[in-house]
Amino acid sequence: MSPLFGLPVLGLETSCDETSAAVLVGWDVRSNVVSSQAALHERWGGVVPEAAARAHVEAILPVVEEALQQARLTLAEIGAVAVTNRPGLVGALSVGITAAKALAFARGVPLVGVHHLEGHLLSAALATRELPFPHVALVVSGGHTELVLVRAPGSYEILGETRDDAAGEAFDKGARLLGLGYPGGYAVQEAARTGNPKRYALPRALKGESLEFSFSGLKTAVLRLAEAEGERLSVPDAAASLQAAIVDVLVQRAIRAIRTTRVSALTLVGGVAANESLRRRLSDECEREGASFATPPTQYCTDNGAMIALAGSLRLERGQRDSWQLEAMANAGLPS
Ligand code: KG4
Ligand code: ZN
Repeated sequence: MSPLFGLPVLGLETSCDETSAAVLVGWDVRSNVVSSQAALHERWGGVVPEAAARAHVEAILPVVEEALQQARLTLAEIGAVAVTNRPGLVGALSVGITAAKALAFARGVPLVGVHHLEGHLLSAALATRELPFPHVALVVSGGHTELVLVRAPGSYEILGETRDDAAGEAFDKGARLLGLGYPGGYAVQEAARTGNPKRYALPRALKGESLEFSFSGLKTAVLRLAEAEGERLSVPDAAASLQAAIVDVLVQRAIRAIRTTRVSALTLVGGVAANESLRRRLSDECEREGASFATPPTQYCTDNGAMIALAGSLRLERGQRDSWQLEAMANAGLPS
């Protein structure tokens, strides 16, 4: 990849339930501060948009200050501000955008809006500092499950996506039904450690040649299983069976995507990419296929400012920047 924007870039991320700010200098992540709202949303079992926006308002300035402090830089030394402006919860996004505009305007430096998924897609380069192009990316998070052909930074084509729930939602909803708390992905992974993944038969939807996903039937199947088994239900076995059902489908579609596109490089990104079983299985399968495999360290899988600073840096490097009219958008396709 081309050299990055030469000055320190501040990256802000507030699209969902993490308030994050990071400072990137060249390829060097000088700081990546994440304030999670998980405890706030736990009692509802999911993100409540108004509560999320209010929590971002409270957290954003302390998080930015902490990121600057850890990077040993002052605001006066920041050369540009990158911020997630789409897609996401509009109230939540607006907090980050307002802060980014104020900081960039006050310092007279460029402002650049970043598509949240572009941040995830490029996050695989944060540790390795390079990525093969073209490559296929499996993006799996709380809101997205997509296979994307990445031709170059800024040039993306969706190969397949979910028809209903995202993989992270399947983990979160399944975890809730099993009484494992929120967010569910990590809780399911930990509960599954001692469980038998073959104990309960759970569906793997959409067999055949498709590159699409469907996880809504899995949630219903876990609900039926919990009702049928009642007190007898083994939570570790159910968690292991749920994790295996999700991982099986993700691995099978990702391998199918690299075969059908004949692109022998795969990346795994997004919050669900933190899942140990998925990382191991995809890495093994790619090796068997003779394809390269990259996934970021887990702190860059879940939402973070560093990936936004990186995607913003690459946009700035290509001469792009946004006006003070930059707006939040609930839905938006990937740049093509
Ligand atoms: O990318 P992310 O932080 O936020 C969105 O953009 O959605 O992803 C959050 C999702 C949640 O659904 C969470 O349960 C899932 O990532 N997740 C995991 C793990 N860690 C986080 N899923 C499976 N295993 C994990 N270890
Ligand atoms: Zn995300």
